[in-house]
Order: sequence, then C-alpha cells, then structure tokens
Amino acid sequence: MGRRMRLTPAPIYVFLLICTGGYAFIPGVDGPVSNVEALEGGDVTLLCDSTPDSSDDEFMILVWYKNNMPIYSFEIPDKQWSEPSFNTSARLRADIRSQPTSVTISSLSEDDQAMYHCRVDFRLSPTRNVGINVTVVGKTTSF
Ligand SMILES: *[C@@H]1O[C@H](CO)[C@@H](O)[C@H](O)[C@H]1NC(C)=O
Ligand SMILES: *[C@@H]1O[C@H](CO)[C@@H](O)[C@H](O)[C@H]1NC(C)=O
Repeated sequence: MGRRMRLTPAPIYVFLLICTGGYAFIPGVDGPVSNVEALEGGDVTLLCDSTPDSSDDEFMILVWYKNNMPIYSFEIPDKQWSEPSFNTSARLRADIRSQPTSVTISSLSEDDQAMYHCRVDFRLSPTRNVGINVTVVGKTTSF
C-alpha cells in the first residue's frame, strides 16, 4: 500500500506533463500578466512567488512554461529539471530559495520573445499562475 503511494520523481513529471498537455495559460483569466522588455543578447529575470497563502499550506512544485511548453520545474524537496533544448550553454539559472523565486535567462535572442508563465502547486490551495510577456528588443533597432 505504502509503495503505491510513493511516486518516484520521474512518474510525477510524466503525470504533470499529461495533466498540463492540453492546458494553455489564458492571460488575465488564469492569472495576471506583466510585460517585460529585454535586450537581445542580454538577460531577463522572471519572478514567481511560491509562498503559500496560509501557514498550514505547503509549496509542492513550480513549473515555468514558454508558450505553454515546460522549460523548468522544481519539486520539493530538491528535484530540479530544465528543458535541454532551452537551457543551452547553461543560460538558465534559477534561485528557488529566495522569495519571489526567480529564473534568469541569458543570451536572449528573438526566439525568446514569448508568453512565459509560472505555475505553482500547493498541497491545499488552488494552483497559482502568473504570466510574463517578454518582448526582446533588438540592439540595432533604429528610430
Ligand atoms: C542549465 O544547465 C546547466 C548546465 O547543464 C545546469 O548546471 C543548470 O543547473 C541548468 N539550469 C537550471 C535552471 O536547471
Ligand atoms: C505581449 O507583448 C506584445 C508586444 O511584444 C503585445 O503585442 C501583446 O499584445 C502582448 N500580449 C499580452 C497578452 O499582453
């Protein structure tokens, strides 16, 4: 019985992918969206608060998506994953211990212009979604 309940991390991730596979973040409906501009070649830091609303609740898992595709996840106690095709040249950094938590994407290119959102699951409270609409501004933009 106890064995059935104890899921290993990999199946949890697969389970999460299946659950979120057909799910698309709807800006403003599923959560607030802020707009961020970042320079091509530069960095952008995306913030996400994973503090539970009540003290008897507990943070379980945090996932960042780029246009609804998972690029990063963190699961308690300390399982971290990043999408290899996105985290190229180790350009993705995460700080999950501070609040709000942050992920920083460096070496930004035009391809990084997208709607990002973080999804935080708690033991008790409903899932929290926060969107960040990232616009990558070219260095050579002329006016
Ligand atoms: C990105 O990849 C590098 C190199 O493999 C790794 O050290 C780093 O932890 C990854 N970033 C995240 C946020 O997982
Ligand atoms: C995201 O930003 C772009 C500009 O880069 C804008 O055209 C678009 O409407 C924004 N989307 C949302 C949902 O705010």
